[in-house]
Amino acid sequence: RAGYDLIVLANRLPVDRVADSAGADRWQRSPGGLVTALHPIMRAQRGAWIGWHGQPGPPPDPFTHDGIRLHPVELSEDDVDGYYEGQSNATIWPLYHDAVEQPIFDRDWRRSYREVNERFAAAAAGLAAPGALVWVHDYHLQLVPGILRRLRPDLRIGFFLHIPLPPVELFCQMPLREEIMRGLLGADLVGFQHPHGTRNFQRLAAHLLAAKTTGEVIEHAEGVTTAATFPISIDVATQQRLADDPQVRARAAEIRRELGDPQTLILGVDRLDYTKGIEHRLTAFGELLAEGRLDPAKTVLVQVAVPSRQRIDHYQALRERVERTVSRINGVHAGIGRLCVHYLHQSYDRAELAALYLAADVMAVTPLRDGMNLVAKEYVATRTDDTGALVLSEFAGAAAELSQAWTVNPHDLDRLKDAIVAAAHAEREQQTARMRPMRAHLRRHDVNRWAADFLNRLETPAGRGRVEA
Ligand code: UDP
Ligand code: G6P
Repeated sequence: RAGYDLIVLANRLPVDRVADSAGADRWQRSPGGLVTALHPIMRAQRGAWIGWHGQPGPPPDPFTHDGIRLHPVELSEDDVDGYYEGQSNATIWPLYHDAVEQPIFDRDWRRSYREVNERFAAAAAGLAAPGALVWVHDYHLQLVPGILRRLRPDLRIGFFLHIPLPPVELFCQMPLREEIMRGLLGADLVGFQHPHGTRNFQRLAAHLLAAKTTGEVIEHAEGVTTAATFPISIDVATQQRLADDPQVRARAAEIRRELGDPQTLILGVDRLDYTKGIEHRLTAFGELLAEGRLDPAKTVLVQVAVPSRQRIDHYQALRERVERTVSRINGVHAGIGRLCVHYLHQSYDRAELAALYLAADVMAVTPLRDGMNLVAKEYVATRTDDTGALVLSEFAGAAAELSQAWTVNPHDLDRLKDAIVAAAHAEREQQTARMRPMRAHLRRHDVNRWAADFLNRLETPAGRGRVEA
């Protein structure tokens, strides 16, 4: 049986099919950190990627993009409603992010989630070579390892969760809780961003399925599974190359000129998502201007808010609130030809983002909960002269590694304001003392090491660890 030796499954392919203004189809990079991290790995490994091409209806034939073999999976309109927008993004996403918005539970969505997970598993079963490594990604596909294990017991199956795994008390609200745990335990190796996720997984396995954990190995009714922490990262070398590219540097200088040469440029870059703490950041900024702790004539906040999941109510409501807050701040504090908040509901390519990172004096990353947050890592890796200041929420996975940032609890508005002011006023030596160790850490812990750690572990008998029948 021919087939691929390495297969990645993720809800999304690294490119989306979008219609351009003339109605013709073109391919565009998909949003989010999962794609950012996996893209360089898959280009180097020559594996196959199974995922959705971003539109309902019949998928295109398999094709190669940027050296990666892509196998699109079909989602109907109903699948997009039930599996993607419903169960994945209105139940699991909010629940796993500390229920910062109310999760919605719906029977039809659960049925749809099962069906689509079966479809992904069947696609992998049909494409994998004997004994292949199959690496399943993220919260959309948590049932896949269990289903695939039954279809193809010869495979080595890994699963990585890009978002947090919540504590037992929250997870247990979910009607699918046992099914999801059995699905995940179908994998030989399950990876999490943060030790809290790994610990929550072990506790859930004990609580829901009476499984026993020894060290990293969980013994359960179907065999054994290793659970461990693998903090994801970025392609640091590529990010540094971008940072040192003369065109990118020129663009950074141009951005500052276009903004009227502010004394302090504060930057936020997020998908427009309620987990990102954009409202808290805007409120803090507005109060600092009102109190005169930041000078409206000399300070600019650029907020990139990438359109995301726009048909879901939580996201529409967030957009309304954010846009109202932005215009309120500008209404009071801007002047003619001089905005205080530049709000950009758009998506940018990597070069333009790198120019923004280079232009920014302060990078504000203030999520209420975030699996990792690659934007924080990209900012640090871009600052090759060790200047700049990172304000980082303690609720982002990245805070476990970037401990020299100005770390904050974004719910504590006064401390958040203090951190923004301290970062804005930091002297160059202070910036360097914080930035240098963070950049050194990232050089040692880039995304290639993350993938190698995970895949090596999956290949070794300890990671494999199944009890042979
Ligand atoms: N990003 C992008 N264009 C934009 C804004 C963001 O390509 O206009 C990328 C950003 O560089 C990062 C990813 O989107 O690699 C966001 O990942 P992160 O982990 O910060 O958050 P997520 O969106 O996965 O929740
Ligand atoms: C986060 C998730 C990814 C997801 C991305 C973009 O990074 O962990 O799985 O692909 O957000 O969200 P979207 O719903 O547009 O795929």
